[in-house]
Amino acid sequence: MTAGGVRRVVIVGSGGAGLQTALALRRLAPHCAVVLISKTALAESNTRYAQGGIAAVVPDAADSGAAAEGPHDSVAAHIADTLAAGAGLADPEAVDVLCGEAAQGIASLRAAGVVFDTSATDAGAPARGREAAHSAARILHLGGDATGAGLVAALTAAVRRDPGIEVLEDTLVTRVLLDDDAPALEGARRASGVAVLHGGVARDIHSDAVVLATGGAGQLFAATTNPRIATGDGVALAWRAGAAVADLEFFQFHPTSLDVPGNPLISEAVRGEGARLVDAGGRRFMTDYHPDGDLAPRDVVSRSIAQHLARDRRSGAYLDATHLGRAFLARRFPTLTALTAQHGFDWSSTPVPVVPAAHYWMGGVRTDTSGRTSVPGLFAVGEVARTGVHGANRLASNSLLEGVVFGARCAQALADGGGTAPRFDVEHLDLEAEETATQPFTRGELQAVMSDHAGVLRTGAGLELARKNLASYSPDTDPELADLLLCARLLVHAASRRAGSCGAHHRLDQPDAAPRAPAPSRSYARATEGTHP
Ligand code: FAD
Ligand code: SIN
Repeated sequence: MTAGGVRRVVIVGSGGAGLQTALALRRLAPHCAVVLISKTALAESNTRYAQGGIAAVVPDAADSGAAAEGPHDSVAAHIADTLAAGAGLADPEAVDVLCGEAAQGIASLRAAGVVFDTSATDAGAPARGREAAHSAARILHLGGDATGAGLVAALTAAVRRDPGIEVLEDTLVTRVLLDDDAPALEGARRASGVAVLHGGVARDIHSDAVVLATGGAGQLFAATTNPRIATGDGVALAWRAGAAVADLEFFQFHPTSLDVPGNPLISEAVRGEGARLVDAGGRRFMTDYHPDGDLAPRDVVSRSIAQHLARDRRSGAYLDATHLGRAFLARRFPTLTALTAQHGFDWSSTPVPVVPAAHYWMGGVRTDTSGRTSVPGLFAVGEVARTGVHGANRLASNSLLEGVVFGARCAQALADGGGTAPRFDVEHLDLEAEETATQPFTRGELQAVMSDHAGVLRTGAGLELARKNLASYSPDTDPELADLLLCARLLVHAASRRAGSCGAHHRLDQPDAAPRAPAPSRSYARATEGTHP
């Protein structure tokens, strides 16, 4: 890298975070060539399926230079809600950045061609939805409940128009290359590109810096809202390169996936508009568990449904939106109206069955507030990153925002030359012994172990059983399955090390051990420095 900025950057992942980083970098550093890699189609990602929207406190007029505050909301309130949802483990500095730079992030999306829904009653102002644990209606959306599709369409079009961005589709990154002969000033080897597989052919792509924007790992669990590509590759790539990871025990389950094969999401925005969780007899049960009822924080609602079903599976959990009316549901939630109909439900007349499903990994590759990881030249943005903004439980609709805000900050850091890799306090972890295990396994078997023992409700004995099962699995030659196995082992290790319950990590055998003052976040790194395996 040069003092004037980097000349060539590989970005791995084409969800909201990767697209935003690519576009922002090209704006800030037109001399910099970007290689944007996606393991399937450019438009396929978790981002594409986002429904509810993007949380942001923005002025009414898109072109207003006024402070980014609406009449009923403030950046301070968004910060307070994010910290409260994070159950005491969110990093206040990172949260200030996330919420304080939200309006700027939204402006950059608009500049790239994203058009948000506008209010039906207040001409020119954006439509603002409400979601659980937000103290104000501040969720901006597109196409009613098609936010991700709209976002991806606009940003991929902008990327395709830019001749300085080379797009490589159906290309799987299998390794971060580390510079062998030039230990960086920071004392660790520098990321110098990636190894990829395309059509069965392997090759290396060299660059001055690598940005991981690889999204989440919902495929660790049997019931998930995430598409098949969400296999935790970025955490595995970074781990093998020697980067620090953190908060891996915190995996968010969304309370309301439709209880059909594939677990499609029913947005929290539906409860934000007044829908309620009821049992088979039509009784509202969330107030038995939390004073905020249906709009309690997401970890609370998922846990309550899981406990409610564990007590008596036949009592069932349903989302009742019938009182909102057919016309309103069709207008505000066109995608969900079509989706429920496709599965044989008329949600305007009958409550629909719901069940919690794995949705979002709060933990990930530890970064500073500019996306720098502990490996020089290696950056991480979006869901794969652990910036500290989510703590033990992410506030709804803060994830797309994280990709937008920290993608732009990462681009700025790269345009400024990259900077120095941060050092984090880590516990070193040796998983090498498990590399000699011999039992073959399938994705379904791994998902069953994780769902049974490391999901919404955990126990010490269950986690130990999961650890033993996972330790017996042979490292697979299929890169995605190998990445899932590594992520599963790391998650279970981190969960076993956290005593008590906190946010999305709930121990049935230690429910109240540390509810008010949770132990601080833990970071881990591999015992040996990153090597070419
Ligand atoms: P992704 O969008 O997941 O993109 C990851 C990219 O990395 C993909 O292009 C993938 O192909 C690529 N990739 C991964 N591994 C490799 C590899 N080894 N080689 C090459 N490419 C690779 N959040 C909100 O804030 N608001 C919402 O309304 C909302 N709704 C959601 C609804 C659903 C159904 C889901 C699943 C999630 C939702 N979320 C929402 C969460 C949010 O969508 C994601 O956290 C966010 O989009 C992640 O963006 P990302 O760019 O980090 O990753
Ligand atoms: C939803 O629409 O409920 C998903 C929002 C999110 O995951 O942030």
